[in-house]
Amino acid sequence: MSDKFLFAQAKLFSRSVDSQMSESRPTLEERSRVFCVASGKGGTGKSFIASFLASQLAKEGKKVLLFDADFGLSDAHLYLGVRPKHDISALLKDDLHPNSSVLEPVFPQLDYLYGGSGLAQLAQLSSIQWGRLLKALFHYEKIYSHIVIDLAAGIGPQVLSYLICSPEIFLVTNPDSLALLDAYALLKVLAQRKYEGTVYLVLNRAASQRGEKAAYALQRGAEKMNAGFKISYLGSVSESMGLAESLKLGRPFLDLYPYDPAAIDLRKISKKLLEETGIIPFKSDMSYFLKVQRKGGWS
Ligand SMILES: Nc1ncnc2c1ncn2[C@@H]1O[C@H](COP(=O)(O)OP(=O)(O)OP(=O)(O)O)[C@@H](O)[C@H]1O
Ligand SMILES: [Mg+2]
Repeated sequence: MSDKFLFAQAKLFSRSVDSQMSESRPTLEERSRVFCVASGKGGTGKSFIASFLASQLAKEGKKVLLFDADFGLSDAHLYLGVRPKHDISALLKDDLHPNSSVLEPVFPQLDYLYGGSGLAQLAQLSSIQWGRLLKALFHYEKIYSHIVIDLAAGIGPQVLSYLICSPEIFLVTNPDSLALLDAYALLKVLAQRKYEGTVYLVLNRAASQRGEKAAYALQRGAEKMNAGFKISYLGSVSESMGLAESLKLGRPFLDLYPYDPAAIDLRKISKKLLEETGIIPFKSDMSYFLKVQRKGGWS
């Protein structure tokens, strides 16, 4: 077989994948509101807050997907008390319908996409696998009103591609100086990369006064960077009394301790977030996941 023939075949194939994908791309009206949950330092409470936020939005009637994109180290399901049977790599295997058992139902309005052990495979996708993965993610963008993405800590290239493309970022930090320094570093990188969305600050494991002070310092820091993004303080989250116990029992925190101090604070934060709707243009001009792919977010 000549090279010319093979080249023509490859071109035809990639055109058909492209046209299939463009047919399945979500339109502007169909697209979900996407939140990325990030932190500079590890262990600040991203997965806890991402899972709470997703649950709370679902309880308020939104149709929500919690996407655990801390590939290989995913653990947000522990806060929801579920055991996922599949991970995202299942979406690459066959041309299976994305609605199938890949997603873990948490309760009627909330599903969970586990990032479990997909990392190695996601680094080297063939064009067919790309087609499959994006098709599934486009489908999710159409059927969920909100997608909450729990990211790995830090400012690695993969995390950054998710962040830069996300119209709204939750930056979760603690009030200690190391965590604040790393949060500041993340803001700096976002400014350097000309991020133009909204960063919501959440001070976890902080009393309200201390949280306010720390948030003010970060906001001042961002002003000095001449950052092109908006930065908004959503509030602080108290030390939880029941979280460790709910993790030990493998039961959903919100069900066990709905009036825990951290749960009360997080409910206020979710409410504040929903009130932001309409002020900020949260819908992007293109499919979120397509943007992430183009920024190299899977490699
Ligand atoms: N408000 C809180 N009160 C008490 N414990 C908390 C609180 N927030 C988080 N934790 C605990 O802190 C630890 C880290 O939380 P979590 O896993 O959510 O952090 P993370 O930022 O997702 O970590 P990683 O960077 O490793 O992904 C967990 O043991 C969690 O139970
Ligand atoms: Mg985590």
